[in-house]
Amino acid sequence: MHYFQDRGFQHPVSSEITPRSAYLNRRAWLQSLAVGGAALSGWAGRDAMAQTARPNKLAALPGVRSTVAGAMVMDKPTAYGDVASYNNFYEFGTDKADPARNAGSLKPRPWTVAVEGEVKKPGAWDLDALLKLAPMEERIYRLRCVEGWSMVVPWVGWSLAELIKRVEPTGNAKYVQFITLADRAQMPGLRSGVLDWPYAEGLRMDEAMHPLTMMAFGLYGEVLPNQNGAPVRLVVPWKYGFKSGKSIVKIRFVEKQPATSWETAAAQEYGFYSNVNPKVDHPRWSQATERRIGEDGVFAKKRPTLMFNGYEPQVGQMYAGMDLKRYF
Ligand code: MTE
Repeated sequence: MHYFQDRGFQHPVSSEITPRSAYLNRRAWLQSLAVGGAALSGWAGRDAMAQTARPNKLAALPGVRSTVAGAMVMDKPTAYGDVASYNNFYEFGTDKADPARNAGSLKPRPWTVAVEGEVKKPGAWDLDALLKLAPMEERIYRLRCVEGWSMVVPWVGWSLAELIKRVEPTGNAKYVQFITLADRAQMPGLRSGVLDWPYAEGLRMDEAMHPLTMMAFGLYGEVLPNQNGAPVRLVVPWKYGFKSGKSIVKIRFVEKQPATSWETAAAQEYGFYSNVNPKVDHPRWSQATERRIGEDGVFAKKRPTLMFNGYEPQVGQMYAGMDLKRYF
C-alpha cells in the first residue's frame, strides 16, 4: 500500500480506494469528485452522499474500505446532518441538540492520548502519531443507543488492536479503561453533576482486541465533528452507544474490572457489558425495538433490535456460556 504525506497524516492514494459499486450513479460520483476529499470516501459513504447534503467544512480524512468481517453493514447510512446534530455528549449538555450547539469550544488540537498501566510500553501518543499508526479504514457500523434510537455511520479509523499490539500489554492486563477529556474551560456541561467526570468506560481485553472495536478519527470522509467526539473516540458497534467514549485522553490497562461512569451513576440500569440485547430490558423500558434516526416520520415503523446489534456472528463467541441477564 502506498501513501502520500499531507498535513502530517497518511492518505491512501485514490487508485487504491474501494472500487465503485455497480449501483453508484456516475453523476453522483463526478459530483463527489468535485468536492475533493469526498471522492475518497468509501462506496457507501458516497452512496449516502448522493442522497444527503454534505457540509464539507472539515478536513478530509479518507479511508480505504475495511475488510474486517462485519465492518460494512448494508443498512442505509444516516444523513450526515443527523449524525452531527442529534448527539449524546453530556460534557456539552444533556439535550440532543446541545453538543452541536456547544462543542465549538472543544479544542481537538494539540491532543495526546496517554497509555498507562499494565503495558510494557506506556507513553503519550500525539494525535499526529495516532493518525499515522495504521491505515485509515472506512467502516459502516450500526450504533444503538441505550435510549432506543440508532444510526448507521460511515466511520474512519482503525482497529484499537493496532494500538494495543504496539504498547505490549503485560499478562496482568485483563481490562482496558478509557478516560475522556474533562476540562471545565472547554466543556460547559461539567458544571452539572449528571455524571462523575471524567467520563470513563471499559472493555474486557478480548473485547478491546476484537477487530470491530474501532478508534475513530472521522466520519463521512472528514475528521470528526467536535460533537461526535473529536479528535478520537471509541466505537464498539455491538454494545450500547455509551460504551463508545468520546474525546479520549487516556487508555489504561488494568487487572480488575474498571469503574465506568454509567455504572457508577446507576449500577442496576447500566452494567459493565452493555451488549445490545433485545431480550434484556432496561429496568425502565424495553430494548426489543429501536427507532432509526432520520426514519422517524409518523408512519415509520420501529425496527426490531438485533442480538449484539446484528454483530452476533462476529462477537457472540466471546460471551459463550455467560448468563447475559446477569452480565448485562
Ligand atoms: N462520550 C462522552 N465523553 N460523553 C458522553 O456523554 N455519550 C455516549 C457516547 N460517548 C457520551 C460519550 C452515548 S450515551 C452515546 S449513545 C454515544 O456517545 C453517542 O454518539 P454520537 O453522538 O456520535 O451518536
